[in-house]
Amino acid sequence: MLSERMLKALNKQVNAELYSAYLYLSMSAYFESINLKGFANWMRVQAQEELMHAMKFFDYINERGGRVEMMAIEKPPTGWDSPLHVFEETYKHEVNVTNMINELVNMAVEEKDHATYNMLQWFVAEQVEEEASADEIKQQLSLIGKDGRGILMLDRELGQRTFTPLQEVK
Ligand code: FEO
Repeated sequence: MLSERMLKALNKQVNAELYSAYLYLSMSAYFESINLKGFANWMRVQAQEELMHAMKFFDYINERGGRVEMMAIEKPPTGWDSPLHVFEETYKHEVNVTNMINELVNMAVEEKDHATYNMLQWFVAEQVEEEASADEIKQQLSLIGKDGRGILMLDRELGQRTFTPLQEVK
């Protein structure tokens, strides 16, 4: 059984993952508005991944006999200065999410909740990837600068990303 404290924190994380999906959808809409379809696709896939993260917490809470509570999702920003600005914000956001996951891990240790600790390890590994992929694109955009051809080449590459649901997720 989940402690009240752990349950509350896990429910908050469902909301945080849904906010991430919302944020990345907003970024996808921004890229659509400036006709960078590949960037828009990358963000759309990212939003799908975040929904999957939310569902992983959703399913886990239910599995442990807890009650999932859906909460209001904050309105994300709707405009950015440039593709580089979007990825700077994406990277910052992912670092923030990593901190949230680490806080959950600390709580699971304090609550002596080994099952939650174990479930969270998937997210600990996932956050390494999440930070790395945002940082890689951010660095590429820094190198490209204002070179339109570079942006278009990267747009083509990011257009290749597809969503692959993970086996661990129901
Ligand atoms: Fe759900 Fe991007 O971390």
